[in-house]
Amino acid sequence: MSRLDSFIRRLEAQRACLGRGAALVQDLEGVVLELGLGNGRTYDHLRELFPGRDIYVCERQVAAHPDCVPPADRLLLGDMAETLPAARPLLEARVVLAHLDAGTGDAAANRRLAAMLEPLIVPLLCRGGVLVSDPAMADPALEPLPLPDGVAPGRYHLYRRR
Ligand SMILES: C[S@@+](CC[C@H](N)C(=O)[O-])C[C@H]1O[C@@H](n2cnc3c(N)ncnc32)[C@H](O)[C@@H]1O
Repeated sequence: MSRLDSFIRRLEAQRACLGRGAALVQDLEGVVLELGLGNGRTYDHLRELFPGRDIYVCERQVAAHPDCVPPADRLLLGDMAETLPAARPLLEARVVLAHLDAGTGDAAANRRLAAMLEPLIVPLLCRGGVLVSDPAMADPALEPLPLPDGVAPGRYHLYRRR
């Protein structure tokens, strides 16, 4: 598969999983958490999927499209290793959907980042809350969920907090 096809399939998987996640949590009360703003594509999509919900965003350094910069009081600016623990009093067990897309093309670094972030993210999810994630997760508190049709296993991941 060409790198172009692989990239397109990743974005299709991302969109399909975000849509599935949104449907799964529609009856839960709480907030949404975007982990990795980047240029704001998925943040913008989350705004469409969750009108009226507060969406908190973690980002080390904002470089998003100007239309996709979160309000200052929803932006957790800095390294997630520090901002997620600091946000725990605010967000603990309140997040209905978290989306983790903070990686790069470096697979080993992505695994290390996911292992570091996993114990910081899980306590923020409410019971039944969904984690939509690029990297695989292994916390026993996370139940792997089936992927939407057309998403190849391992391309993106869906979990529900038990
Ligand atoms: C792949 S981009 C996100 C793309 C985004 N989902 C989109 O659709 O535009 C990953 C982002 O995560 C951020 N990031 C990576 N590690 C981080 C960390 N430890 N703390 C805060 N932000 C981090 C990077 O700065 C980068 O902007």
